Amino acid sequence: MPLIMVTGAAGFIGSVVTQALLKEGHEVLSVDNLSRGHRSAIFEGTTFFRISIGDGPALDKLFEQFKVDAVVHLAGLIQVGESVSDPDIYYANNLRDGLTLLESMHRCGVSKMIFSSSAAVYGVPNQTPIPEDHPIAPVNPYGDTKARMEEALAWYGEAYDFQSVSLRYFNAAGASGPIGEDHRPETHLIPNAINVALGKQHHLSLYGDDYPTPDGTAIRDYVHVEDIAQAHVQALGALGQLPRKAYNVGTGKGYSVREVIDIAARVCLEEIPVQVEPRRAGDPPELVADASALQTDLGWTPKFSTIEKMVQDAFRWHRDHENGYPGG
Ligand SMILES: NC(=O)c1ccc[n+]([C@@H]2O[C@H](COP(=O)([O-])OP(=O)(O)OC[C@H]3O[C@@H](n4cnc5c(N)ncnc54)[C@H](O)[C@@H]3O)[C@@H](O)[C@H]2O)c1
Repeated sequence: MPLIMVTGAAGFIGSVVTQALLKEGHEVLSVDNLSRGHRSAIFEGTTFFRISIGDGPALDKLFEQFKVDAVVHLAGLIQVGESVSDPDIYYANNLRDGLTLLESMHRCGVSKMIFSSSAAVYGVPNQTPIPEDHPIAPVNPYGDTKARMEEALAWYGEAYDFQSVSLRYFNAAGASGPIGEDHRPETHLIPNAINVALGKQHHLSLYGDDYPTPDGTAIRDYVHVEDIAQAHVQALGALGQLPRKAYNVGTGKGYSVREVIDIAARVCLEEIPVQVEPRRAGDPPELVADASALQTDLGWTPKFSTIEKMVQDAFRWHRDHENGYPGG
C-alpha cells in the first residue's frame, strides 16, 4: 500500500485530499503545524505529526522512520491580502519552509511531489480563460511564493531523479461529509456569504464594485473541493508520465461576486446584505481557468463543481457546524 505524506492535512483541502487518498487505498501520514488548521480535521485513519515543514531535522526523522512514496504538499499560508501586508511570513512559511521540505526529501530519497499551486501565479492575466502557458507574473507575494516553488520543483526535476506536478487551483469551494471550510479569519466569499445568511455576521463586505467586469465585481472560477481532491489522486497515479509540469484545476466558467451572493441568498433562503468596500490589494479582476489540459492529459472532469452544489454543500456544513471545528 503506497504511503503518502500530506502536508497541511489539518486544512480545508488537505483533509479532503486525505479522505480521497484513504478511499483509494493509500496510507497517509498527516503533517501540519496547526498554525491555521484544525486538529479535529485530521482523519482518524492516519498517523498525525504536529510539525512544521520548516523543521528539517523533524522531517528527516519522519522520512527515515517511514518509507514515504510521495508527498502531497498543501501546507501554506493562503491569504492574498495578508501576504501583501506581511510578505515576510509568506516568504518564510511558503517558500523558505517549502524549500526545507524539498531539501529533506532529497536528502532522504523521497522523489515524488504533488504541489498545491494557485491561479495567483498568473497575476492579472492578459487572456481568459487562462491556459497553463500564460506568462507567470504574480501581483502579490502569495502568488510569488507559489511561482518560486514551482520553479524549484522544475529544477529539481532537471537535476535529480525527482518527479513533481503543480496543481494550480482556482477557487476551492464546497464541503465534503464532515469536512468544511473554516479559515480564521475567513477571507473566502462563499463561507462569508453563508455566515451572513446564518446571522453570524451582520453584512458581507464586497471588495470592489468598479472592476472592468459586466457587473463591476471580480470574477472567479469556483471548483468543488472533492473535484480538487480527485485531481490529486489521478495526478499521483500518473506522476512521471504527464507532459506538463503544471495544470490548472478549474471549471472554465467564472462567476462574479454579485452572482455568487445572489445564488447564496437563494440557497440559504435569506437576504445577504452587502457593504461595498475598496478593492483588496493584489486581487485581479478576473481569474478563470482553461482547464482543458487536465482533462486531456489526465482524464479529469469536475463532477461536483456546479456553483449551486458548492454553495449547498458549504451551507449544509456551516449550518451543521455552527461554531466551525470544535477546539479551535
Ligand atoms: N483554498 C483555495 O481556494 C486555494 C486556492 C489555490 C491554492 N490553494 C492552496 O491549497 C493549499 C491548501 O489550502 P486550504 O484552503 O486548505 O488552506 P488551509 O489554511 O485550510 O490549510 C493550510 C494548512 O497548512 C498548515 N500549515 C501552514 N503552514 C505550515 C507549516 N509551515 N508547516 C506545517 N503546516 C503548515 C496550516 O496549519 C493549515 O492546516 C494551500 O497551499 C493554498 O495555497 C488554496
